[in-house]
Amino acid sequence: MQLCYKLEYLLALAHLASALTATIPTVAPSGAPVISPSLISLSLEQDRWTDWSGTTSRNEFFFNTLDNLKQITGKPPHIRIGANSEDHTDFNSNVQFAQDIFPAASATVPYPEATNITVGNSYYLTARFLPPGTHVTWGVNFGQNNITAAFLEARSIKDAFNSPALKSAGIVLDFIEIGNEPDLYRNNGLRSSSYNSTQYTQEWIRFANNVSAAAGISATSHTKFIGASFAGSSHGAGFSPQAIFSAGILDSAPGKLMSTISQHRYSGSFCSGSEGLLQDLMTKATIRGNLSTFSPDIAATRQRGLDYVLGETNSYACHGAPGVSNTAGAALWTLDYALFAPQIGISRVFFHEGVGFKYNLIQPATLTRSTLDGSSLPTPLPPHVQPQYYAAVVAAEAIGSTGLSQAVELSVDDPTVSGYAFFEGGKLVRALFVNFKAFLASSAARGVVHISLGFAETSTRASNITIKRLAIEHADDTSGLAWGGQSYETPNGRKSGTLITTTGSVQSGFDIHDTEAVLITFD
Ligand SMILES: *[C@@H]1O[C@H](CO)[C@@H](O)[C@H](O)[C@H]1NC(C)=O
Ligand SMILES: *[C@@H]1O[C@H](CO)[C@@H](O)[C@H](O)[C@H]1NC(C)=O
Ligand SMILES: *[C@@H]1O[C@H](CO)[C@@H](O)[C@H](O)[C@H]1NC(C)=O
Ligand SMILES: *[C@@H]1O[C@H](CO)[C@@H](O)[C@H](O)[C@H]1NC(C)=O
Ligand SMILES: *[C@@H]1O[C@H](CO)[C@@H](O)[C@H](O)[C@H]1NC(C)=O
Ligand SMILES: *[C@@H]1O[C@H](CO)[C@@H](O)[C@H](O)[C@H]1NC(C)=O
Repeated sequence: MQLCYKLEYLLALAHLASALTATIPTVAPSGAPVISPSLISLSLEQDRWTDWSGTTSRNEFFFNTLDNLKQITGKPPHIRIGANSEDHTDFNSNVQFAQDIFPAASATVPYPEATNITVGNSYYLTARFLPPGTHVTWGVNFGQNNITAAFLEARSIKDAFNSPALKSAGIVLDFIEIGNEPDLYRNNGLRSSSYNSTQYTQEWIRFANNVSAAAGISATSHTKFIGASFAGSSHGAGFSPQAIFSAGILDSAPGKLMSTISQHRYSGSFCSGSEGLLQDLMTKATIRGNLSTFSPDIAATRQRGLDYVLGETNSYACHGAPGVSNTAGAALWTLDYALFAPQIGISRVFFHEGVGFKYNLIQPATLTRSTLDGSSLPTPLPPHVQPQYYAAVVAAEAIGSTGLSQAVELSVDDPTVSGYAFFEGGKLVRALFVNFKAFLASSAARGVVHISLGFAETSTRASNITIKRLAIEHADDTSGLAWGGQSYETPNGRKSGTLITTTGSVQSGFDIHDTEAVLITFD
């Protein structure tokens, strides 16, 4: 009996505490990708765009959440505005800002996208409320196959970005996107059920000819076209970058003005209301699986000399799954997902957001309905950040402010721990580790992994480290996170609290608990 008890006890301990060695290069390996300071960027559903920006004055809360990130990396996140509602948007110069027609809310979709949006010039001009230096992508209507809508929108977008307010703030239009997820048009009624990539390419060229003239896109303009914006990839005759390249899109006059390809990805969907398990999202292998799906598309795109981004992504499609997308565990998913992306050639990751969506980093407006089931809230919920916002902050600190830092994924021999090393001027400066094991409110005991640091090269480096933790009480918590002891869950979105870090030595390594991220800074 006694022996059995001891053995069980030891096994339990062994399960809860394990040890790993992470071998870290002290100089950037050749080919280590440069990481964009705006790696974590945002895609916004455009029906409620002015709820984000503000109409006659800026939305201070949204501004602050973007500016926080700019203060860390020197660059604000890039903002893509459009998505599903871009293909339902008309233009009318008599409309001030926007007029929306919304369908009824439901428990599964508490904040549905507008079915009809009509915008006027002032709508686009509110981009002046973004932080100075913001890079913007804007979508125009292609879904309704009405070239007048695309033309009027493109012209108004050009006028907005040429206005003194935007020019003096250095807010620039990087791209116009023509249509959102055109590979789904054959399923959602926007085209015939036989719509294919050849027809799409011909129509895109016709629209892009018109839009390039209307928006002033030329060989010498800063603004270019972002291409594809497909919901997925079938890697073959279907809607893939490869398919539209073979259909000749890049050989056309406007196609020569396409400098970046964008595709979209969700790891699953909540469209029919089926819930997911948080641990399924928080899985190192499936994060790699979901992103690596695009490897052939990325290779084909880069071979043509174009850049490649995930122009719209998040955890589960149809605004996220309750208890999964809105939780602290999703913050760890976001962090690792974004950092893994550049390892396979994705330059930037635009996390999709809409007012009241479950998977938001930021809720920019006061909500009166629950984002989880659409029920009326007893008291209105003011603007706030959700757990995923911390991922943007942590990534920003790991990336730093040089604009030229590089990162590589470390080979960590554990299916529940990932790690990345960051280099500035080629020298190791920081390392970030994520422990994906979900410690839920219902979990009994929290495990811990001890990580010993080994160096790939013999090193005379300083031997002390600073340790900063993203503290999460439970993976299924929806608030209460702390990054180095500080909170962003404040009325104005600015951080509060005193910074808490600890110091240690390279020799002694550090512990990482289940459901935690740890940033190590080398002296
Ligand atoms: C085409 O777009 C214009 C501008 O958005 C709009 O006024 C017009 O009603 C649209 N036509 C159709 C047939 O939808
Ligand atoms: C809304 O748009 C649809 C097409 O997407 C159109 O059939 C309908 O007439 C529009 N409704 C209004 C009120 O404009
Ligand atoms: C673009 O389309 C609009 C609306 O149909 C038209 O007035 C304009 O002349 C077109 N521009 C070009 C360059 O084709
Ligand atoms: C798309 O359909 C057209 C006929 O409607 C056909 O000529 C073309 O080959 C098809 N393209 C692809 C990629 O299947
Ligand atoms: C994507 O992630 C989900 C879990 O979020 C997983 O079920 C799915 O298998 C993953 N897909 C791939 C291709 O790895
Ligand atoms: C490392 O930390 C120890 C104790 O805090 C300190 O005495 C030592 O000077 C530090 N070494 C370096 C290289 O910073």
